[in-house]
Amino acid sequence: MKKIYTFILVVMFALVLYGCSTASDTTTSSSSSNSNGAVDSASNSSDTFTMDEVAQHTSSDDCWMVINGNVYDVSSYVRNHPGGNDILKGCGKEATDMFNTQGGEGSHSSTADFQLESLQIGTLQ
Ligand code: HEM
Repeated sequence: MKKIYTFILVVMFALVLYGCSTASDTTTSSSSSNSNGAVDSASNSSDTFTMDEVAQHTSSDDCWMVINGNVYDVSSYVRNHPGGNDILKGCGKEATDMFNTQGGEGSHSSTADFQLESLQIGTLQ
């Protein structure tokens, strides 16, 4: 009988330990994303930016562009863009015409509009 109580105690102890470690994991991950300015700004599409700010993001791993008055951080999408490096022509710029005309090649589909939507970080001031 004593063995059963000991077993139950051990199981309860293990459950409490597991609960604590899960709770502290959640805290750690949320605080790490809070301390990351990029994650914060990417998750807040109500921010406003000036053209000067947009113009500072012109590389393939840090590419922002303005389309229809909205500001997009397309950095994570550059590598997956079906039109390859053509997307880089819009980095740091007002790229509405470029996007609407695929840089003079045609027009983007609703799939492109849909993907663009998830990359919005704000609007142009
Ligand atoms: C603004 C600069 C951009 C230029 C010059 C550009 C150019 C192009 C070109 C030339 C193609 C045709 C590829 C082919 O058929 O061989 C293409 C396709 C595509 N682009 Fe872009 N692109 C730009 C921005 C974007 C952005 C910001 C997105 C989405 C976030 C996007 C999403 C797509 C998609 C999904 C396709 C596949 C065809 C379609 O569904 O429309 N592009 N692009």
